[in-house]
Amino acid sequence: MAKIGVAGASGYTGFELLRLLTNHPNIEIVFLTSETYQGEDISKVFPSIRGFVDKKLSSIESVSSEACDLVFLALPHTTSMDKVPTFLSRGTKVIDLSADYRLKDPTVFKDWYSFPHNQPALLKEAVYGLPEIHREKIKSARLVANPGCYPTSITLALAPLVTEDWVDLSSIIADSMSGVSGAGRKGSLATQFSEINEGVSAYNIAVHRHTPEIEQELSALAKTNVLISFSPHLVPMTRGMLSTVYINLKQDMSSENLIEYFQNFYKDEPFVRILPLGEYANSHFTVSSNFCDIGVHVDKRNQRAIITSAIDNLIKGASGQAVQNMNLMLGISETTGLNFPGIFP
Ligand SMILES: NC(=O)c1ccc[n+]([C@@H]2O[C@H](COP(=O)([O-])OP(=O)(O)OC[C@H]3O[C@@H](n4cnc5c(N)ncnc54)[C@H](OP(=O)(O)O)[C@@H]3O)[C@@H](O)[C@H]2O)c1
Repeated sequence: MAKIGVAGASGYTGFELLRLLTNHPNIEIVFLTSETYQGEDISKVFPSIRGFVDKKLSSIESVSSEACDLVFLALPHTTSMDKVPTFLSRGTKVIDLSADYRLKDPTVFKDWYSFPHNQPALLKEAVYGLPEIHREKIKSARLVANPGCYPTSITLALAPLVTEDWVDLSSIIADSMSGVSGAGRKGSLATQFSEINEGVSAYNIAVHRHTPEIEQELSALAKTNVLISFSPHLVPMTRGMLSTVYINLKQDMSSENLIEYFQNFYKDEPFVRILPLGEYANSHFTVSSNFCDIGVHVDKRNQRAIITSAIDNLIKGASGQAVQNMNLMLGISETTGLNFPGIFP
């Protein structure tokens, strides 16, 4: 049994990790951290976990000497940065769910997060945890930077296309809609019920912090600099995410051809489902699962590919993907603890 720690267990992604790990046959949870609830039982914070994980929460400083094979850091960005070297120095593998180790260039990190990166060597070493693209590197990594939710849905929608010379890389537009849990458990005015309910709003157009992460991954795949137009939206649902991505095609292509191409690209992927002709991705059908559903369509009037991509922001967009990465890092079958459909309604 691998010994696993969860730092930030009192947050949304922390809870989702616990829920997924209770069904995992190869691991044992050895510690949970929270600064606010230290000394409390986790079941007091999340009553639904009672009887499955009966542990007390500790401060992150107090668990620094616990023997542990792998730790998940489900902490706010800039908080994980200094915690990572401490765990690595004790031989503990780390999966960081924050943005701290996702961007390869420390200058880009500083530009977008207004915070200097103080671990440039580890930034270089960290492997971006999108298994569909970096599976082999993840297997031998000691530090995995788990992707953001928007980047997961958008990168999976575009990865099959950006390597091809029959697409116009300068034409990429991504419109995404996220449930409110994407903002984490700590409340703010913008995420209050009365601010969100019965309305849809765009926010951070062209300046959202996930933009450089998406561009970094697409550029690496395309082997040239790719810039996108990214417009995130907040919608009145608790969890789930839908991205609609547009890219111009340079040659005549049918929806049928493009679907076949996507199906072939993702044929060995356990968590990517390419939808049949005429079906569009729907957040309802990936919620509470680790699947990314992708709908493929060509607008024949203007030769534009329109790709829809749905995930659960807390699962394939965060904790499920983190468990998928853990499985790869520990040499466990990749789908262990994750092979179940979503819930509906
Ligand atoms: N929510 C999503 O859909 C999503 C998706 C992908 C990635 N992420 C990323 O995953 C990370 C966690 O997100 P979340 O939504 O789970 O956030 P959250 O609900 O706000 O939880 C944050 C956790 O971090 C702990 N924490 C806060 N400040 C800390 C500090 N200074 N030292 C130690 N622990 C601290 C909190 O513990 P206390 O009990 O002490 O407050 C809590 O357990 C973030 O970096 C986020 O960007 C989130």
